[in-house]
Amino acid sequence: MRPELWIPGPTAVRAEVLSAMAEPMIGHRSAEMRGMIHALDPHLEALFGASPPSHRVAVHSCTATGLMEMALRAAGPRVLCLVNGAFSRRFATIAEALGKEVVRVESPAGAPPALDAAREELATSPFDAVTVCLSETSTGVAVSPHEVGRALADRGGAMLMVDAVTYLGAAPIDATANGLDFVLAGTQKALALPPGLGLYAVSETMLDGAVRSTDRGFFLDLLRITEAHAEAKPPMTPTISLHRALLVQLEAIAAGEVELRLTDEAEAVAGLNGWERRYRRHARMRDLTGEFLVARGLGPLGGGPASPSVTCVLVEGRDVPTLLERVRARGYELAPGYGDLRGSTIRIGHMGDHGVASLVRLLDALGAALDGD
Ligand SMILES: Cc1ncc(COP(=O)(O)O)c(C=O)c1O
Repeated sequence: MRPELWIPGPTAVRAEVLSAMAEPMIGHRSAEMRGMIHALDPHLEALFGASPPSHRVAVHSCTATGLMEMALRAAGPRVLCLVNGAFSRRFATIAEALGKEVVRVESPAGAPPALDAAREELATSPFDAVTVCLSETSTGVAVSPHEVGRALADRGGAMLMVDAVTYLGAAPIDATANGLDFVLAGTQKALALPPGLGLYAVSETMLDGAVRSTDRGFFLDLLRITEAHAEAKPPMTPTISLHRALLVQLEAIAAGEVELRLTDEAEAVAGLNGWERRYRRHARMRDLTGEFLVARGLGPLGGGPASPSVTCVLVEGRDVPTLLERVRARGYELAPGYGDLRGSTIRIGHMGDHGVASLVRLLDALGAALDGD
């Protein structure tokens, strides 16, 4: 038996979704495929809180990293990057690899992005883009899209690019209301799908500005891919099985079917829609994990605002591989810390289609492993 997967992505995928992926191949220019692509849009608009006429949604057959590069290629040369961990640093690294002029606003590991310092930078000189990560998967620290949008509202025309990889599907984004220009994520995190499909929302303002970029490339050309999505004619062979899995999952979430299985009846009848119940369950799992840590005298790293999907636990003084092995022996897979934090932290991915009752069992197992049993 494989251990239950509780790493910060990929996360466990339900059997129904896996079997949807095993259905026979279809032609990617077929009416069935076009119908599938068009059927995604109302769900993606609800998921991103992004709606026409100000925003469009789209998917691309690449992972989230591809979308980071796609967004940067579509913008001008000066980029302000808010860096508070390994994944927000990736945005800066990609921008540098593309030859952009990058200014980093750094915060220590475990701290949220330095929005005030970024606002000051934006007031001193003009930028073409600002990058920020909502849920820093390496540290488990989050910032809300509302806070980001409000703090960076005056950005002198810079495109606000938001990494929502471990935020989307776990908490609301409201891209339109928060004035976010580009929001990106993959499929393998809180949406509980296999990796390999990138999802994004983009503002018409960013699409208009992208016309001036001469470095959009082909595979990662924001304009080509967004237009092709609108026409349901991807310019390359798309990940057909993943598109099918995404549609099956989005329909089941919106209809409340997934939550019905994972939450108790009192919550199911509370009058919330499927997405709202999903967000509530994620908040509950984050809170339960936090309470468990407090009860054990362990802190989440930095003690900053907690991600709705990832908790990074400081376990200094313990041998991380031994601890993870003990948890695995109880049937659960957790992740070590990321990068510099590998030896001092472990990470729990409480996201996707894991239920609250399963989380309680996992925390029991972690408690026993911490006790050395
Ligand atoms: C916050 C964040 N951004 C970006 C990425 C990169 O995503 P992918 O590996 O799907 O390209 C990850 C992956 O874990 C992530 O957690």
